[in-house]
Amino acid sequence: MDVTPFWLAGRPATGDEQLTVTHPYDGRVVGTAAVPTPEQVERAVAAADAVRRDAAALPLHVRAEALAHVSARLKERSEEVARLITGENGKPLLWARGEVNRAIATFRFAAEETRRWSGTTQRLDTDPAADGRMAYVARVPKGSVLGISPFNFPLNLTAHKIAPAIAVGAPIVVKPAPATPLSALLLGELLAETDLPEGMFSVLPVPNDRAGDLVLDPRLPIVSFTGSVPVGWSIRDQVPRKHVTLELGGNGAAVVLPDSDLDWAASRIGLFSNYQAGQSCIAVQRVFVDRSVYEEFVPKLVESVNALVTGDPWDDKTQVGPLVSQDAAERVEAWVGEAVAAGAKVLAGGTREGAAYAPTVLADVPADARVQRDEVFGPVLLVQPVDGVDEAFDLVNASDFGLQAGVFTRNLDIAFRAHRELDVGGVVIGDVPSYRADQMPYGGVKDSGVGREGLHSAMTDYTEEKVMVFTGLPL
Ligand code: SIN
Repeated sequence: MDVTPFWLAGRPATGDEQLTVTHPYDGRVVGTAAVPTPEQVERAVAAADAVRRDAAALPLHVRAEALAHVSARLKERSEEVARLITGENGKPLLWARGEVNRAIATFRFAAEETRRWSGTTQRLDTDPAADGRMAYVARVPKGSVLGISPFNFPLNLTAHKIAPAIAVGAPIVVKPAPATPLSALLLGELLAETDLPEGMFSVLPVPNDRAGDLVLDPRLPIVSFTGSVPVGWSIRDQVPRKHVTLELGGNGAAVVLPDSDLDWAASRIGLFSNYQAGQSCIAVQRVFVDRSVYEEFVPKLVESVNALVTGDPWDDKTQVGPLVSQDAAERVEAWVGEAVAAGAKVLAGGTREGAAYAPTVLADVPADARVQRDEVFGPVLLVQPVDGVDEAFDLVNASDFGLQAGVFTRNLDIAFRAHRELDVGGVVIGDVPSYRADQMPYGGVKDSGVGREGLHSAMTDYTEEKVMVFTGLPL
């Protein structure tokens, strides 16, 4: 099998070591990625630093055309890319194809935002001391970016690091997740087809235990991290003077109120607690159902979960495939086991086969069980009756996380109340929390992170305002 090269300052390279990528469903080898040596990593960072000023001065049309090119090439190669994602991550083709479509859009949105990226002017003669003066205000990159991306959306969450960096003219060094480097390396290949200058991007599958050097490197003053809660916050603690954006975990909640369409709510919650085998930060984990409809709702929910097609991720019909590894599935099994030992009832699933965990619904879960308190990142859903909106919203907020929440209601007053009172980065009305449009601001509060992605938001996040004052103008 050919070794997939990494991308060092825009050029393919191989190092002394290799990383074997295996398919979670059956453990077979699906690829081998070259791993850079420390000296090669140093060259990539030095190249990013060297090109910093030229990158910031790149004409907008050059950046926009590069981004549009990646979008177009992803579209041309979409089925191949979806198969690459399924191979390395194990997510069913259904979701891998969806991820490719999203990445096509992510790069397209970035190209569009680039063409809109402009400065503003501000007349200063609102004060007599500034007669004849005007400020031009433009956002400039805070510096080069270190993007650390996770395994669960190996293509699109890497796209969310790279695309806004190129849009604002910031060089980027990407460190993909060791389990799933191939999609990020493919993005490197597509970027290498563009006119971006040398050093503008590097994609380096550096092992996690060597990533700390990149985090500490002062030539990469922006760190954009998507991944686990402890790693994310420890990065921020290590480099308090850097600009750190963290997209971390969640234990997404959905609230089902009596005025909603219960069939719709049950089918959406059933599917989106289990999509990607629950390995999404906005997968539904906790469901609070108004007591007046609880008895009617729960059988519908269990039926929708039991109807999900599980199994081989290469089968077009499969909705729930394996987790990323057997270790991950064993952890989920252990957490469910603890909850059951503490009194939880299994309404569906609760079994494991290798890396696959069956779509599971639990009731009567104690408040301090790990499946309730922590992020399961597996296909496990907890359902609980509540007495009205107050209790439902209190329970949504009774979490260390605050990424997104879904409220099934048709009542606008309750919708706006949810937006005011729920401590999350986003509220979805009439659907699950597991909704992300790639152009909208996305991110959390509390342990879920800090900062926002979404093209315009990330472009703002990577930049700061810089002023130029004109004097003596005949205003
Ligand atoms: C995540 O799991 O953090 C990202 C979810 C998404 O992009 O849909």
